[in-house]
Order: sequence, then structure tokens, then C-alpha cells
Amino acid sequence: MMTKFNKLMALSFLLAASVLTAATYKGQKAYIESCKGCHGGGQELAASKKMSTWEKFMDKKGEKLADIHMSSKRAQASWEYFESRKFTKDSRHLEDFLTEYARDSGNVPACN
Ligand code: HEC
Repeated sequence: MMTKFNKLMALSFLLAASVLTAATYKGQKAYIESCKGCHGGGQELAASKKMSTWEKFMDKKGEKLADIHMSSKRAQASWEYFESRKFTKDSRHLEDFLTEYARDSGNVPACN
């Protein structure tokens, strides 16, 4: 039988989980729109690096991430996006998403 305490615990766990989802949702959406076509699943890409690496990539509104793509001919199809204001706006959300599922984040990627 579930005690009142257990119910409360379950409820606060659910609440915490949905707050986490809200914070990373925008970043995940941006990823699906602008990165997935080339890099595939976002949680897998996120889990390929540590949080500190993502922070460096996404520092100064994603300057380094943009540089990597702007200097690669293979990534030419992404140049317009990385130069756009949309990327500048997305960068903070992308950072939230990528660090949330980074290798050392402790969040096991769900199947997506
Ligand atoms: C048009 C395809 C394309 C799109 C769109 C794209 N990328 Fe890339 N990305 C590449 C290519 C190609 C490289 C390899 C660049 C090189 O080193 O020559 C790369 C490199 C990277 C790297 C460095 C990989 C490493 O291991 O050092 C990261 C991180 C990355 N991309 C993340 C992203 C994210 C996040 C987005 C969306 C905001 C994105 N990419 C959008 C093609 C793309």
C-alpha cells in the first residue's frame, strides 16, 4: 500500500522531471530543426561529450560551434543557419539541451 509520504515523493519526482523537460525542450526542438539532419539523434550526440566541452562549444552564443561549421566545407549546408540570428537565439537553449544529456550529466538518454 502507498503511504501518503510515498505519494508525495512520487508527485515531487514527477514535478521535478517536468521542470527539467521544460528547460531542455526548446533546445531539443532547435536541435531537431537545425542539427538532426546531419548529426542524427540529439541525445546520442549530447552524450558524446562532457558538460565542460559543451560549455566551451556554446560559450559566447555558440561562437566555437559556429566556427567549426563555418570552416568546414562539408558543413556548408549549415552555414546560413550558423550565421543567422536564429542560431544566436537558439544557442542558449541548445546549450541547456546538450549539457543536460552530456556524458557526465548522469541523465541516461531515453530511447527516441
Ligand atoms: C549541414 C550539416 C550539418 C549541420 C546542419 C550541423 N552540423 Fe555539426 N558538423 C557537421 C560537419 C560536416 C562537421 C565536421 C566538421 C569538420 O571537422 O570538418 C560537424 C561538426 C560538429 C561538431 C564537432 C564534432 C567533434 O567531435 O568535435 C559538433 C559538436 C557539432 N557539429 C554539433 C552540431 C550542432 C549542435 C548542430 C546544430 C546547431 C550542428 N552540428 C549542425 C555538419 C553539420
